[in-house]
Amino acid sequence: MKIGNIEFGPRPLFLAPMEDVTDIGFRHLCKRFGASMVYTEFVSAEALVRSVNA
Ligand SMILES: Cc1cc2nc3c(=O)[nH]c(=O)nc-3n(C[C@H](O)[C@H](O)[C@H](O)COP(=O)(O)O)c2cc1C
Repeated sequence: MKIGNIEFGPRPLFLAPMEDVTDIGFRHLCKRFGASMVYTEFVSAEALVRSVNA
């Protein structure tokens, strides 16, 4: 499987984004145990734009 110019191989494993689960430690574990791609949890676009915690 190829997305853009990134080749993931024939049977890639993608970690779903999960609020309060897929934090940095969990993502590192999933990569170590074979995930091809990992995602962070929800982020607030509004908070990013305004540089506030929400
Ligand atoms: C505990 C939990 C938290 C989740 N949090 C998010 C999230 O933050 N953002 C999101 O887009 N989807 C979230 N989801 C949805 C999952 O990413 C995924 O789309 C859903 O579990 C369906 O996966 P499936 O098609 O493999 O069954 C969450 C799912 C679970 C079970």
